[in-house]
Amino acid sequence: CGGGDGGSTAASGGDGTITMGFAQVGAESGWRTANTKSVQEAAEEAGIELKFSDAQQKQENQIKAIRSYIQQKVDVIAFSPVVETGWDTVLLEAKRAGIPVILTDRAVDSEDESLYETFLGSDFVEEGKKAGEWLVEEVGSEPTSVVELQGTTGAAPAIDRQEGFAEAVAGSPNIQVVASQTGDFTRTGGKQVMEAFLKSQPDIDVVYAHNDDMGLGAIEAIEAAGKVPGKDIKIITVDAVKDGMQALADGKINFIVECNPLLGDQLMELAEKVVAGEEVEKRVVTEETTFTQEQAVEALPTREY
Ligand code: AHR
Repeated sequence: CGGGDGGSTAASGGDGTITMGFAQVGAESGWRTANTKSVQEAAEEAGIELKFSDAQQKQENQIKAIRSYIQQKVDVIAFSPVVETGWDTVLLEAKRAGIPVILTDRAVDSEDESLYETFLGSDFVEEGKKAGEWLVEEVGSEPTSVVELQGTTGAAPAIDRQEGFAEAVAGSPNIQVVASQTGDFTRTGGKQVMEAFLKSQPDIDVVYAHNDDMGLGAIEAIEAAGKVPGKDIKIITVDAVKDGMQALADGKINFIVECNPLLGDQLMELAEKVVAGEEVEKRVVTEETTFTQEQAVEALPTREY
């Protein structure tokens, strides 16, 4: 597709190829890798020229990438904000340059909704709720100590998944979140925080990890401490990437709330519309499900990511 346009071909000019600047969060998790692949493949299929950057989970890198896309006069900018706040200045720069912005996966916390065209992604509060509701059902009135492995501090999925879960268990005083700390959505982070929790918390019944990778790290820490993940300590995670689903099927994780990373096709469709000046929905929510151990065994053979 396209290419070699010197960075100045707008959708309306040249050969009509749309150029998209995509500022990705990083490569912190299996989910993110699947998301990146989906975006790259969908761009190629749609004939959209993709300029891609990886911010390594740093907001300043993402801001730099967005500024460079503005300078290159891309037709549309899409990005998945590392954290929720602090975007108004750079988004205003894009707006003044006449470049539409699409938020994918994660939201920004801004009063000015005119700074972006649309937000495509999951309802993270709902995901947290599903995790909490499963636990309420699972433990009934039994006293239950939960430790929480949070995602990146300040990131929408960390804030919202904590909120949704807390809401779901609020009516069950027997369920207590006894410790909560960030593992930055990574396997190493999850492992390290879980090691510390195992030392500081005498009775952990449940781990609620904001993503599979941190849950997988926690499994390593639990096993190293001589306990059986999924039995001695129950584990709930979010994402449902292959490695997570395998651990669920193996009985090491007890429940996974799905978060769909395959946003590429929808993103390209939205980009085409936005560049053509067509009206799009301000919020496009991804459809998702949940998985028990039995459902994971069934779903694994055909799982795409
Ligand atoms: O924003 C989506 C979250 O970011 C995923 O749940 C997590 O795995 C990723 O790092």
